[in-house]
Amino acid sequence: MKIVSFVTQKGGTGKSSLAVSLAVAAAESGLKAVLIDIDPQSTAEEWYKRRTAEAPAVHSISWANLSSRLYRLRQQGYDLVIVDTPGAESHAASEAMKEAHFCLLPVRPSVADIEASAPTVRHLNENAKPFAFVLNQCPTGGRTSRTANARMTLQLLGGLCDPTVAHRSDHVDALAAGLGVTEFSPYGKAADEIRAVLQWLTARLRRLDATEIADDEGGAIPLSAMS
Ligand SMILES: Nc1ncnc2c1ncn2[C@@H]1O[C@H](COP(=O)(O)OP(=O)(O)OP(=O)(O)O)[C@@H](O)[C@H]1O
Ligand SMILES: [Mg+2]
Repeated sequence: MKIVSFVTQKGGTGKSSLAVSLAVAAAESGLKAVLIDIDPQSTAEEWYKRRTAEAPAVHSISWANLSSRLYRLRQQGYDLVIVDTPGAESHAASEAMKEAHFCLLPVRPSVADIEASAPTVRHLNENAKPFAFVLNQCPTGGRTSRTANARMTLQLLGGLCDPTVAHRSDHVDALAAGLGVTEFSPYGKAADEIRAVLQWLTARLRRLDATEIADDEGGAIPLSAMS
């Protein structure tokens, strides 16, 4: 079982939106996926209440119970746990980073978002925790140089999820409908981007599994479903 936490203390960068759509895409790909919401704002929990589909399950819990919940999920044979955290420096974010095999840091292509990620990056580096930025809400029109500049900066700052996610209304509408973007508009560009992020992430987890993660449980994600 692999644990991926969405962290950054900047609010509104897209942690919850990416977490729910990624969890849906993971479930669609055949992974036994669960989303844990430890943000008191409860965006993922509220999203789940609007759903009719049961998978992926959403567990809304206190950060203090994260470790014990992960233990139980491991016993239940989950492949992938995605953790959504508050957009502020908090015990919740620290605990999510500690428990994660890998962290994703959504940032918009803006200097303010990139600067605001510095304390999170410092914390991750100090704890030798693998991570990558995900560029989210990228402009789709002519201002692609802003995205290109952000890509370069984020690569230098520690690594970037290669597929980027554009600013698309599917994300807003899917969240409101209790759906992932791959359910809301399966053939849309937002859906393609989320599937590309999932594919990148699972490939990265597979690489970590081979080289960096000493996973006591020995439970590698059955990534055959992804390739
Ligand atoms: N790629 C995107 N395209 C368009 N809108 C987006 C995208 N990603 C997120 N949003 C919108 O941006 C807003 C903030 O997103 P979200 O709630 O996911 O951020 P967050 O990082 O979880 O915020 P917080 O730190 O408050 O928990 C929401 O209205 C969401 O619908
Ligand atoms: Mg959120």
